[in-house]
Parts: sequence; C-alpha cells; structure tokens
Amino acid sequence: MTTLQGRVALVTGTSPNIGGVLASGLAAAGAKVACNDIVAGHAASRAETIIATGGEAIAVPFDVTDEVAAGAAVHEVLQTWGGIDILVNNAVAFDMAGVLDMPVERFRKQVDVIVGGAFILTQLVGQSMVSRGRGGSIVNILSTAAWQGQAGNIGYCTAKSGMINFTRSVAMELAPHRIRVNALTPTATIPDDPEQARRFTEVFDGLAGAGKMDFNGLNPWERLPTPSDYVAPLVFLASDDAAMMTGTNITVDGGALAKYWPQIPGRQFPDGQLRDGQPSAHAK
Ligand SMILES: NC(=O)c1ccc[n+]([C@@H]2O[C@H](COP(=O)([O-])OP(=O)(O)OC[C@H]3O[C@@H](n4cnc5c(N)ncnc54)[C@H](O)[C@@H]3O)[C@@H](O)[C@H]2O)c1
Repeated sequence: MTTLQGRVALVTGTSPNIGGVLASGLAAAGAKVACNDIVAGHAASRAETIIATGGEAIAVPFDVTDEVAAGAAVHEVLQTWGGIDILVNNAVAFDMAGVLDMPVERFRKQVDVIVGGAFILTQLVGQSMVSRGRGGSIVNILSTAAWQGQAGNIGYCTAKSGMINFTRSVAMELAPHRIRVNALTPTATIPDDPEQARRFTEVFDGLAGAGKMDFNGLNPWERLPTPSDYVAPLVFLASDDAAMMTGTNITVDGGALAKYWPQIPGRQFPDGQLRDGQPSAHAK
C-alpha cells in the first residue's frame, strides 16, 4: 500500500493501542507521520517504531487542549515537511462515571480532551491546509458509544456523539477548500500486542462474569476488532480514493451497531444453529 506517498499526517494520541497502530498504518501507506501524545514516551516510541520499519516520522508531544503548545507543534511539522495533508483526531481520556456522580470538573476535562482537542487541532491544521490550497483529509475517531447510550459513561458518550456533528459541520465549512472531514467508528478493541490483549480479554471476561457487559457474547461477529482492522479504512478515508466522501462515517465494529438490540447472537434460531446448520461461534 503506497496510496499516501508524499503525504504528511499528524495523529494525536499515539498510544501503543489504536492511535499508534493507525500512525504506523499511515506510514506503511507512504505518509510521513507526526506522532502526538501527552505522554512524550508514547509519541517518541511510535516515531521510533515507524523509522525502524523504514518510514519517516517525528514525535510531537503536547497536550491537545493546550492551544499554544498545539500551535507550536503544528508549526514544527510545517517547518519540517512543508505542509500537513492528513489529521487524525484520536486522543482520548477514558474516565467512566455517570451523570449522578461525576464531578463536573472531570466531565469538563474529558469533553475538553475529546472535543476541545479536536477543535484546536482541526482549526490549526485546517488553517494551514486552507492557506496551502492543496486540500486535505481530516478523520475523527469516534466509538460505538457515540451512537448508543451507555450508562455510567456520560462524558465519553457525550463527547464522542458531539464529534458526529462536529464532523459534519466542519465538512460543510471546509468543502470549498477541498478538505474532506470524515469519522471512523471503532468499537471495543482487542489490542494487537499479545500482553495488552491478554489484559483486555481479562477485563472483558470479568465484566461478562459480573453480568455487567458481555462484549463477546453479544457481538454478532466471531471476534472483536483489533487496531489493525481500522488501518485500511483509515488509509482509504485519508487517500484520494475517498475523494467524494466527506461529512460521513465508516463503522468497523463487526456489525455491533447493526444488531437488533434484544437479539443474542447465535441464538436467533430455536436450535441455536445458524441458517446453514453450522453451530454458532456464540452458541453456549
Ligand atoms: N480501545 C477501545 O476499545 C476503543 C473503542 C472504541 C473507540 N476507541 C477510540 O479509539 C481511540 C484510541 O483509543 P485507545 O484505546 O487506543 O486509547 P488509549 O488510551 O490507548 O490512547 C489514547 C492516548 O491519548 C493520549 N492522550 C490523553 N489525553 C491527551 C491529551 N490531552 N493530549 C494528547 N494526548 C492525550 C493518552 O496519553 C493515550 O496515549 C480513541 O479515540 C477512543 O475513543 C477505542
């Protein structure tokens, strides 16, 4: 895949989980990648990984809610590579709490990282794209929690669903400049790294065991996605192949959002068999 040859990307929140894999995926498709994170080590190690695998990358550690630091970092990328063609707003602060209990400062902080950070980066990078006059592609990373109401996760659900119409609104504003703005919706993800995957699997199993949430049992597909599953859709949205796509979303969730809500996968037929008679992966 070299569809992004010569392009420059800035990815926020390049942890070893999704953002880092997305940054590597853009680099593998030919882009030069500026890796951001508030944790300097995350940004640095992702840039090192990309360079070690033959790509071009720099680390730009900063807090996405800090307008001055973000401005300096965007300036650095522009000085280094002459322009930014792709922005991926991926940084997130997880902080699960419900509306009855969450202190308003924590709510504000979480919404500020997700929506405020995307606003600042979109403004700064958008301005640079407009003045350069070569168009561009902005991709906002959502979540299935943007499209559904999850109890006890008020800041995340609010901010992520806000990003749906942020995406549409910015897409309309920037269309005259040939800057496309789209969203990518992941869902509960099993990390590519085996050790991280083991820990996440334990968490998911624990939630199911406690009868709270059943990610595997209610998932229509045979497995949960990994960060690698998001790379090709992101590269597509970032590339000229998606030239007529703006203000929209690609969901990569194994069908989770498409599912009729009360249906238990694999149990839709009385004998627990799929239509072709094969036993369901979910049949228990
Ligand atoms: N992991 C999942 O199961 C899942 C599911 C659906 C959607 N998503 C979305 O995918 C994206 C990546 O998720 P992830 O699981 O890789 O998250 P993660 O927690 O592994 O990574 C997020 C990164 O953002 C960084 N960050 C936090 N605050 C920041 C700030 N103010 N400025 C800059 N960086 C900051 C963190 O340090 C971290 O490295 C997020 O947008 C998330 O909402 C994740």
